[in-house]
Amino acid sequence: MPRTMNNLWGGAVAEAAKTLNSSIAVDSRMWREDIQGSLAHSAILTAQGILSPEDGQSIQAGLTGILKDIESGALQIDMGAEDIHTFVEMELTARIGDAGKRLHTARSRNDQVATDLRLYLRNQEDELVSLIHDVIKALRDKAAEYADAVMPGYTHLQRAQPVTLGHYLCAYAMMLTRDAGRVKDARVRLNQCPLGACALAGTTFPTDRAMTAAALGFDSPCLNSMDAVSDRDFCVELMSACSLIMTHLSRLSEELVLWSSLEFGFVTLPEGFVTGSSIMPQKKNPDMAELIRGKTGRVYGDLTALLTVLKGLPLAYNKDMQEDKQAVFDAVDTVKLCLSVMAPMVAGMTPHPEAMRRAAGTGFINATDCADWLVAHGVPFREAYGIAARLVHAGTPLEDVPLETYQAACPVFDETIYDAVDLDNCVRRRNLPVAEEIAFLDEFLGNV
Ligand code: ARG
Repeated sequence: MPRTMNNLWGGAVAEAAKTLNSSIAVDSRMWREDIQGSLAHSAILTAQGILSPEDGQSIQAGLTGILKDIESGALQIDMGAEDIHTFVEMELTARIGDAGKRLHTARSRNDQVATDLRLYLRNQEDELVSLIHDVIKALRDKAAEYADAVMPGYTHLQRAQPVTLGHYLCAYAMMLTRDAGRVKDARVRLNQCPLGACALAGTTFPTDRAMTAAALGFDSPCLNSMDAVSDRDFCVELMSACSLIMTHLSRLSEELVLWSSLEFGFVTLPEGFVTGSSIMPQKKNPDMAELIRGKTGRVYGDLTALLTVLKGLPLAYNKDMQEDKQAVFDAVDTVKLCLSVMAPMVAGMTPHPEAMRRAAGTGFINATDCADWLVAHGVPFREAYGIAARLVHAGTPLEDVPLETYQAACPVFDETIYDAVDLDNCVRRRNLPVAEEIAFLDEFLGNV
C-alpha cells in the first residue's frame, strides 16, 4: 500500500482513499480564517500558561509569517496536504520546529474546522447583505424613475388590473429586504465560537473559551461541546436564505426574459448583459437572466445535499460533514455572482412606458373598475360583475363604449363612467403607495 506523510497522525492511506479523503481543493480558501483561529487559540493558551511565552511568541511570529507569505504569493498552498488545517500546521512546524507541534494542544480539527467555517461564512454573510442592498438600490431607483408608468398587472399571466412599473419593481425590492433580513438573522445564530469544544468532549486544559470567542469577534462560545463540533445548521440556514434569494432573482429574471421579448417589448436589457446569436443576426438573447434562473436549481441542490448529509449522523463529528463546504461555498458563490449581475442589469435596463401603456390599454384591465363604479352607485357587486362581463364580451374597449350601450346594459350608468374606466384614473384611484414604498426602501438602505 502506498504511504504518504501528508497527514497528521502518521498512518498510511491508499492513493484512491487519499483522494477521497482530501478536502484541500475545497477548503484551502479558508486559509486566512484558519490562521486567524490559530493565532487566537495560541494567544489564549499562552495567556493561560498552557504554552510557554517563548513558544507562544514563536507560534505567533510563525503564523503571521505564513499569513503574509500566502497573501503575497511567496507561499503556495500544497494541494497534496489533506486539508488547510494540516497544511498550515505542517508549514508552521517546518518553519519554527517543535513549538509548531504544540499549537494543537487543547484543540481538535473538529472544533478548528467548525470555527474556520463560521469565521469564513460570517464574512460571506456581510458581503451577501451588501450585494442584496445593491440590487434593492437598483430596483428602487428604477421604480422611482418609473413610479407612474402604467403597465398591466397579471394573474395567470393574463392581463388583470393596471399597476405601475414603480409598484411592480418595488415588489421585488420588498422580497429582497426580507432576504437581507434572513441573512442577518442567520449571522446572529452563527456567531458563537466552537473553539475549546475540541474533538467532542471539551478539554482537560484550563483554556478560557470566553476569551477565545471574544478574540475572534464571536458573541459567546457554543455552550455544548458536542453540538459545537457536529451541527452545521448555520450552513443550512444560510443556504436556505440563499435559496430564497435565488427564488426571487429567478422570478425577476423570468420577468426580464418575458419583458425583453418582442411580444412584450416592455424593456430593453443593457448592452453587456445580452448576447447575440451565432446564426440569427437579429437576436439579443437575455442569457444573464436565463442563467440566473438556471442557477437557482443548483443552489436548491446544494441545500438539499447538505440536509441529506446531516440527517442520519449520530453525534458528534463524522467525516460525512466534510461535504458541507462544497455545498455551502457553491451556494454562496453562485448567489453572490447572480446578485452582482442583477444589480447592474436592472440599473441599466431601459423601460418602454409607451409599450407598457399600450398593453395596459387592451385586454379590459379596467373591467373591475367598471364594476366598482356600479357598486359605488348602489348596484350589488355580483350584479355589477355580470353587467361589466357582458360589456367586456361585446368586445369594445370600455373607454369607447357609447353611453347608450352602457345604459342599455344598466340604466344606472351616466357619463362619469368614462372617468372611472380611464386608465390613468384607474391607476391613480388604486391604493398603490409607490412613494411610501420608496421611502421604506430608502430607510432600509439607510439613505435618509
Ligand atoms: N477536513 C475536515 C473537515 O472538513 C476537518 C476535520 C477533520 N476531523 C477529523 N476528525 N478527521 O471536516
